[in-house]
Amino acid sequence: MADTHPRTAILGSSLTDLQSGRTSAKWENLAGDVLPMWVAEMDSVLAQPIADALHAAVERSDTGYAAHDSELPAVFADFAQRRWGWSVTQPVIPFTDVGVAITDLLRHLCRPGDGVIVTTPVYPSFFSYFDAVGVRPVEVPLIDIGDGGRLDLDGIDAAMRAGARALLLANPHNPTGTVHSRADLSTLAALAERYGVRVVSDEIHAPLTFSHTEFTPYLEVAGDTAVAAHSASKAWNIAGLKCGLLIGADLPSFSDQVAWAVGHFGVIASIAAYRDSEAWLDQLIGELEHNAEVVAGLLADTLPQVGYCPGAASYFAWLDCRRLDLGADPAGAMLDRARVKVSDGVSFGGPGAGWVRMNIGTSPEIIATALGRIAALR
Ligand SMILES: Cc1ncc(COP(=O)(O)O)c(C=O)c1O
Repeated sequence: MADTHPRTAILGSSLTDLQSGRTSAKWENLAGDVLPMWVAEMDSVLAQPIADALHAAVERSDTGYAAHDSELPAVFADFAQRRWGWSVTQPVIPFTDVGVAITDLLRHLCRPGDGVIVTTPVYPSFFSYFDAVGVRPVEVPLIDIGDGGRLDLDGIDAAMRAGARALLLANPHNPTGTVHSRADLSTLAALAERYGVRVVSDEIHAPLTFSHTEFTPYLEVAGDTAVAAHSASKAWNIAGLKCGLLIGADLPSFSDQVAWAVGHFGVIASIAAYRDSEAWLDQLIGELEHNAEVVAGLLADTLPQVGYCPGAASYFAWLDCRRLDLGADPAGAMLDRARVKVSDGVSFGGPGAGWVRMNIGTSPEIIATALGRIAALR
């Protein structure tokens, strides 16, 4: 029977409730009136199956280390099959989180000083991973960024020919929300094979791919030398619980410490997410699609100088503020004068100067308040 009851919005929490209820990184040290629209946490209400699983674990006092042989890899593989038609045949290894997994992997794959390709503008922590490992970022900017951005396959070809050792891909891409096409990924895989370059595909935003868009798991098109990183942390907003996954046929042998450093609550919540929380995810995606339309509409009406091409995944608006007249640091001006905290585009690499990333994983009301304050600056 059709569900005729209006469902409560996942992204409907009021600013007052969020301000009084949230203690996570996004909300700390904010002057009272600042709207936090920066780090990648959503203002979502937790999926009920996840909340139930965590409550039940607390009731059982089940708060020890994560089991080393949990059902999470199998549950993830079932989700990948249902959601993307991807038959995961490679080993799936739980890690503390995606950042730790990629850093540890790069330590095995690269030698200090090696070049690793990144397709900027890109998630700023990629540069921190490289610093930790001692490798060098080789920036190959996306092309057509104002129209959403796509891989510069000729540029990647040249960088691989020049000796890059690995490529760290964001698929879907943070911050543009680009869902790389199967054709582009196939070409990338062919290049990687030709030059013997290891591709690490960070697919943490994949469950947030919008409807009517095909997400292509990179391992589906690549040979066994590629590695993918996944996590339920972004899509179900459980980053604080600490659990990510590395998937690959040819993974190095990691230290025993890897399994001991996974969050037990992260495993419990990830199983509940992948196995039992797909209806919640579908509703969330509908709300995020709506939010992207809200942003586009408000910008067209009140800030037409800002460039915005809505992505096809996740909850970021990558905004071209170069014609906004806010000076060289639009993110700084938005914080100081509009009391809206966004991420500075410069931290995303070369092409990010003059851009900001706004986190729109929140209510349409908060988005409207933030854009209203920015529009009032002029
Ligand atoms: C592309 C990408 N990779 C990795 C991360 C970090 O994930 P984790 O918290 O699992 O380290 C993020 C967080 O926003 C991200 O956007």
